[in-house]
Amino acid sequence: MAFWWPLLVLVFAYAICKFLLMLIPPNVPSIEVDTSDVVDDGTHARDNSFIYIPPRGRTQQIDRKVQCYEPATMKYLGHFPALPPSEVKECVAQARKAQKIWASSSFKKRRQFLRILLKYIIEHQDLICEISSRDTGKTMVDASLGEIMTTCEKITWLLSDGEKWLKPEYRSSGRSMLHKRSKVEFYPIGVVGAIVSWNYPFHNLFNPMLAAVFSGNSIVIKVSEHASWSGCFYFRIIQAALAAVGAPENLVGVITGFAETGEALVSAVDKIIFVGSPGVGKQIMRNASDTLIPVTLELGGKDAFIVCEDVDVSHVAQVAVRASLQSSGQNCAGAERFYVHKDIYSKFICEVSKIVKSVTAGPPLMGKYDMGAICVHEHSEKLQNLVDDALDKGAEIIARGSFGNLGEDAVDHFFPPTVIVNANHSMKLMKEEAFGPIMPIMKFSTDEEAIRLANDSNYGLGCAVFSGSQSRAKEIASQIHCGVAAVNDFASNYMCQSLPFGGVKHSGFGRFAGVEGLRACCLVKSVVEDRWWPYIKTKIPKPIQYPVAENGFEFQESLVEMLYGLSIWDRLRALVNVLKLISEHKPSSSSKRRSD
Ligand SMILES: *[C@@H]1O[C@H](CO)[C@@H](O)[C@H](O)[C@H]1NC(C)=O
Ligand SMILES: *[C@@H]1O[C@H](CO)[C@@H](O)[C@H](O)[C@H]1NC(C)=O
Ligand SMILES: *[C@@H]1O[C@H](CO)[C@@H](O)[C@H](O)[C@H]1NC(C)=O
Repeated sequence: MAFWWPLLVLVFAYAICKFLLMLIPPNVPSIEVDTSDVVDDGTHARDNSFIYIPPRGRTQQIDRKVQCYEPATMKYLGHFPALPPSEVKECVAQARKAQKIWASSSFKKRRQFLRILLKYIIEHQDLICEISSRDTGKTMVDASLGEIMTTCEKITWLLSDGEKWLKPEYRSSGRSMLHKRSKVEFYPIGVVGAIVSWNYPFHNLFNPMLAAVFSGNSIVIKVSEHASWSGCFYFRIIQAALAAVGAPENLVGVITGFAETGEALVSAVDKIIFVGSPGVGKQIMRNASDTLIPVTLELGGKDAFIVCEDVDVSHVAQVAVRASLQSSGQNCAGAERFYVHKDIYSKFICEVSKIVKSVTAGPPLMGKYDMGAICVHEHSEKLQNLVDDALDKGAEIIARGSFGNLGEDAVDHFFPPTVIVNANHSMKLMKEEAFGPIMPIMKFSTDEEAIRLANDSNYGLGCAVFSGSQSRAKEIASQIHCGVAAVNDFASNYMCQSLPFGGVKHSGFGRFAGVEGLRACCLVKSVVEDRWWPYIKTKIPKPIQYPVAENGFEFQESLVEMLYGLSIWDRLRALVNVLKLISEHKPSSSSKRRSD
């Protein structure tokens, strides 16, 4: 007994110390980011805040400038250059130099970089959300959910688990290589390129940047021409954090422009991540085939939302409306098709209609609105066409939300939340990605029918299945051909940042986020070495050394049986034979064999 208690005291003291250390906040420096030209502080209005009238079509590309304005008010925000290919190449060359230095940085330093960003984000949530809201038209709550929470979750996951997944991973060596040690090593790939969409300008910029930089790469990101103003501001946060940890300043590049700028980026980097439409995704893959770089394509979806008859309808109705209206429906993994069991169909549409009717859309920073604007003005026309097509084919609008006080100039940028019933697969609304606040609802009778309908799509990104029986919901989800499945919830997968995100079919391939996304930024190298070096070194067995012995093939036959035979007795017999063949080995000359 007397020997034990000092040990117990030590363990106890250690636990107490660990706990006390947890109470000390980490020492993370704050960064200063210049906001003077992006925030209206009321004392001086920004010079350029006139109403902007965007030219129709692609004429804006002619003057080689990306024009930025607030979709919800049409206030002008400024312009950015459309970078010509030569400047894109230069930016990538700078990033390449920076990466050489960063590649040898410690994980401790990389984590400090993440903590500095996290601290800034938490202290400036309102600023980040307001900038996103102004540039894309989403509400502050939509921005908090899609920009802030997702990014904080990603940073926190990288802080706690990132290093573990980038360390060498040991694997089994198999039978013939039992005397070897085999492992996978993860090296940075070099300069990662990302071309990202406008729907979440903060998260879409930070998400690939965090994974690339944490795994030792540099990255150049082309932000969307529809969200360049916010992207360029968010870039300043990254630059300030890089400076604070003493990282090379060109480790991260953010560039603006149109297709030409994006193509030049694809041709210059070592890997490309693209978030956008299938049409552009194909173009990117074509261009990437010139340099044979890996591509990750996240091309949107037409996600099914399935509701069985044994659910708590009023709860699921709330989730359904959020799944459809979050960010005015402009989500790659938004719910776009609703399949509801016939027994609760009328109850469900009644609940959903009640909620949607209570939703008011308006300019998010000018009042309390539940939903914001549509980011790109041509887009409301497309949404209207989808609705018209569905109405022509027998669907019916049963509920719409209302508009708040919309400025006359911005009406094109709003679309009312709309519930549509009697939908079926003859309608474009059930086939094409809408990317808008529309809820088409269709009835089903059996689980098989729901699966068949959900599966009947060119896309395969995600699905959400609701049932009072968890196992029934899981069974349905398991049969839908897609990359992301939420059981009795919506989009919860995206909040688990350890999980990969991506789809099949026209939703693209490759994964970002999670372990798979982090490792996808790496050169994956398999390494084999002698396990008991220098005591046991590998030699080629005598019978198959050059010149090959006469019993060379016989030796191979026995060796194969010894290693892989199904019966232990056959294997032992083969082992004896192998030993015999090695000992009786006599070299033969090939000339002798030919004359036989
Ligand atoms: C990308 O591909 C298109 C057509 O496939 C081609 O016209 C263009 O020159 C390519 N861009 C680059 C930068 O290689
Ligand atoms: C879709 O619904 C319309 C109207 O109810 C009907 O005429 C049409 O046959 C349906 N199409 C399919 C493919 O079920
Ligand atoms: C779902 O679709 C995939 C391919 O699109 C197909 O291979 C699979 O058999 C389908 N499953 C069901 C249950 O329909």
